[in-house]
Amino acid sequence: MTKLNFAILGCGRISYKHIEALINNEPDAMLVAVCDVVESKAIERKEQYESVMTNSNVKVYTDYLEMLKNEDIDVVAIATESGYHAKHAIDCMNAGAHVLIEKPMALSVKDADNMIAIAKETNKKICVSHQNRFNPPIQKLRKAIQEGRFGRIMSGTARILWTRDNNYYKQAPWRGTKELDGGTLMNQCIHNIDLLQWMMGSDVERVYAERSTFLRDIEMEDFGAILIRFKNGSIGIVEGSAVVYPKNLEETLSIFGETGTVVIGGLAVNEIKTWQFADEKEYDKEEDSTDIDNVYGKGHTPLYKDFIDAINHNTEPLINGQEGKKAMEIILMAYESSEKM
Ligand SMILES: NC(=O)c1ccc[n+]([C@@H]2O[C@H](COP(=O)([O-])OP(=O)(O)OC[C@H]3O[C@@H](n4cnc5c(N)ncnc54)[C@H](O)[C@@H]3O)[C@@H](O)[C@H]2O)c1
Repeated sequence: MTKLNFAILGCGRISYKHIEALINNEPDAMLVAVCDVVESKAIERKEQYESVMTNSNVKVYTDYLEMLKNEDIDVVAIATESGYHAKHAIDCMNAGAHVLIEKPMALSVKDADNMIAIAKETNKKICVSHQNRFNPPIQKLRKAIQEGRFGRIMSGTARILWTRDNNYYKQAPWRGTKELDGGTLMNQCIHNIDLLQWMMGSDVERVYAERSTFLRDIEMEDFGAILIRFKNGSIGIVEGSAVVYPKNLEETLSIFGETGTVVIGGLAVNEIKTWQFADEKEYDKEEDSTDIDNVYGKGHTPLYKDFIDAINHNTEPLINGQEGKKAMEIILMAYESSEKM
């Protein structure tokens, strides 16, 4: 394995998870630079990394184009506001770096397609941070699906019953805006929508959605409901809330097949609640539920490992550009549907 040089662009709320993932992927990855327009935020991430990796010397930048020019970077992890992902990813790929992009990969299909096209042109790779795909219960469910244990899958439900208060939106004014974020479907619910569509294993035929901004002082929705008809005939149901009283309740994915029922819940799809099949397998008895500290879970570390492996072996990561686009596209279809009503 070649040790890859990473940089982080955007050192806000989620960026500490990227530092953790880099530390956990030592010796295959090394942080060489951090960049934020607010210098103190970049310095905080440098210090987080260097407090563990004591021999390192991470450079701090406030201008990412300067960083790309001056440093020898293999991968840039992009954790800026969602509406900037496309521009930042394209600039990084054009400068010769692979990109690991926080979700959603972009806010329009046109931007996502453009990013995928630039990746092809520049021979660079895209990985999108839908880290919950790596949760052990989710991996176990995916295995059962791939083995055909559900028989015909009729339906699946993604419930995201969380709370984001007005303070959360005030902390970063881009949150809840159409231009840079989207509402709770695009920001919080996209992970579970990604899991639902991954498990259903089919393209989308049509989408019907209703949305409201019930309680928060934001431009986009704080509650959304989506019905998805997949091309294989199965039906997906999404219930996404950022206004559950008084705190985060659960994030649950349920899959209902002819010969199997699985419900994975907990705070962020980390606990197996129901696991029932007509047949039995040795791995059914394995304990796969995981403890997590918060809704971000523990998926960034295996996501980084998967991307590092893909770069070193010139293969595709689990969540490449095409995969990363799928949940985003369902949500954009939901936005369009709800605006028609
Ligand atoms: N995977 C997950 O579970 C998860 C969780 C939270 C957020 N996210 C995603 O991560 C992204 C960031 O979210 P956040 O909550 O950390 O946001 P944030 O506002 O806390 O951080 C964004 C940072 O990017 C910086 N920035 C913006 N433009 C820049 C530029 N040109 N150069 C350098 N720095 C720049 C800002 O100054 C800010 O510090 C969003 O796309 C969000 O959807 C993903």
